[in-house]
Amino acid sequence: MATKGMLREDALEGKTILITGGGTGLGRAMGEYFLELGANLVITSRKLEKLEQAAREMEEAKGGTVLPVACDVREYEQVEEVQKKAVEQFGQVDALVNNAAGNFVSPTERLSHRAFDAVVDIVLKGTYNNTLAHGKHWIQNEQQGTVLNIVTTYAWTGSGYVVPSACGKSGVLGMTRSLAVEWAKYGIRMNAIAPGPFPTEGAWQNLIPDNLADQIDPKARVPMNRYGENQELANLAAYLVSDFSAYINGEVITIDGGEWLNGAGQFNMMQYVPAEMWDMLEQMTKGNKK
Ligand code: HXC
Ligand code: NAP
Repeated sequence: MATKGMLREDALEGKTILITGGGTGLGRAMGEYFLELGANLVITSRKLEKLEQAAREMEEAKGGTVLPVACDVREYEQVEEVQKKAVEQFGQVDALVNNAAGNFVSPTERLSHRAFDAVVDIVLKGTYNNTLAHGKHWIQNEQQGTVLNIVTTYAWTGSGYVVPSACGKSGVLGMTRSLAVEWAKYGIRMNAIAPGPFPTEGAWQNLIPDNLADQIDPKARVPMNRYGENQELANLAAYLVSDFSAYINGEVITIDGGEWLNGAGQFNMMQYVPAEMWDMLEQMTKGNKK
């Protein structure tokens, strides 16, 4: 059964929400649900044609207004320009979702410094560029605002083979927790979501290319033995940008079916012991104490 929308229909009524990377994957899924809940959207990414098409399709499917604006999140001037356009069109931006990302798997020693920059700049610089542009505007205009950053669970565990992404996401997590405290006095909240595996074209193309897919099954790492559904993530995101979560600040919420803890717990591999072996194992462990 597909997961349903969780919040009441008017939960985001009258709010304007900007989603970076909002034309594809999880950004688009969050955006569609925000529209359903009454929000106006601004979606940004580098490819205007794709964005415009996504905006049209999203409006047709869910109603509301979607403003597509091309913007490379690595360029502060472009980010500031989007912020101005959004305010011109909608009067104000209430929430910013830093969702844009770049990533690919590679042994780190194979990376050029430009490859490292490409990922860290999208993930970390893109996030602080947007946060600064909107945060400064909110503070100057004495407006409340909320920021939701999309990180991953390896923001705190680290992970080989995606090291630039791990560096970038850790930085974003640090910024989330730092500004949650520093900017609370201005009525600005900062939270993050750490998703586990949600199959999207962008993530799968860059992280599990077809010829690896036979050998690596990301689902197998998840104790619940399934991927996340986009609506499950959209429900959490909608709650975190809504006023219902007004007292949640500086939090990072994991939505991964238990994946990262499965990797962390030393004895979790015991799940592979067949049920019928446990009588014998119990006798052995009891016997060891005598
Ligand atoms: C090694 C690579 C490479 C690869 C690019 N480079 N891809 N090096 N392996 N697979 C190198 C290039 O050779 C170049 O270095 C430098 O990186 C910059 O490459 P460009 O193609 O010019 O970069 P750019 O056009 O800015 O594109 C950025 C990108 C690309 C990150 C490389 O993949 C992209 O646009 N990604 C956006 C979508 C995305 O990645 N989505 C996935 C998010 S999923 P040289 O030295 O040759 O100049 C995600 C999930 C996390 O984050 C957790 C999952 C469970
Ligand atoms: P995606 O569809 O590839 O999303 C990435 C988006 O970022 C694209 O729309 C892309 O659009 C945009 N983008 C990339 N570089 C940009 C730049 N320089 N400026 C502006 N926009 C840029 O992948 P996704 O899976 O939905 O990922 C969304 C978020 O979830 C990311 O933060 C990712 O790290 C996180 N996440 C995903 C998973 C998962 O399993 N899918 C797991 C954990 C975390 P353009 O290429 O058109 O610019």
